[in-house]
Amino acid sequence: MDDKRASEIITTPRLSLRPLTNDDAARIAEVAGVWELASMTARIPYPYSEEQAHQWIGGSAPGEFVRGIELQGTLIGCCGFMPIARESEGNHDEQSVEIGYWIGKDYWGRGFATEAATAIVAECKRRGFSHLHAGHFHDNPASARVLIKLGFKHVGHKDWWGEARQCNIRAERYEMIAS
Ligand SMILES: CC(C)(COP(=O)(O)OP(=O)(O)OC[C@H]1O[C@@H](n2cnc3c(N)ncnc32)[C@H](O)[C@@H]1OP(=O)(O)O)[C@@H](O)C(=O)NCCC(=O)NCCS
Repeated sequence: MDDKRASEIITTPRLSLRPLTNDDAARIAEVAGVWELASMTARIPYPYSEEQAHQWIGGSAPGEFVRGIELQGTLIGCCGFMPIARESEGNHDEQSVEIGYWIGKDYWGRGFATEAATAIVAECKRRGFSHLHAGHFHDNPASARVLIKLGFKHVGHKDWWGEARQCNIRAERYEMIAS
């Protein structure tokens, strides 16, 4: 592994958060293209083809930071953050990011989302982002629990598009002011 790639990997006690490559598309489509997972996210379609996963890997938005979550050499999820706009202004806010994460169903309930997202929050702070935002659909108590464990505060709700469900869904919204 070259030095640049090694420096892009975040390690946690059990996980490696590493950049994705095109070779991950099939695994991502397999793991994320499960209804119980995709339907809880805003952006993952259902069904989810390898070609769609390919496009997602290659098409990150400006400033978007995405890492695959690897457990002992196996990709089990993804996490990251992206800059978001202030609602009142429509411009990207230098300070604000939205964080996101998913873990494959076979690996739920072992603390992996909390462990990976804790590292993502630390990375946001290290990069100087002061306002961290996150959310979950109203029927996703596991993600609520992850956000509370990370230290996010519930600030309200809004309707949010769900690509898999193809409709707007009530999303609970959370914020953290980085100290
Ligand atoms: C939400 C998700 C990331 C959680 O992953 P995970 O690795 O299982 O999370 P963790 O093990 O770190 O923590 C889950 C917590 O939720 C709790 N939990 C799980 N199911 C729950 C339920 N039905 N009701 C209440 N709490 C629940 C667990 O007990 C745990 O809390 P604890 O540590 O206090 O016991 C995973 O289920 C997932 O990827 N879901 C689909 C995609 C998604 O929702 N992404 C986030 C929103 S965009």
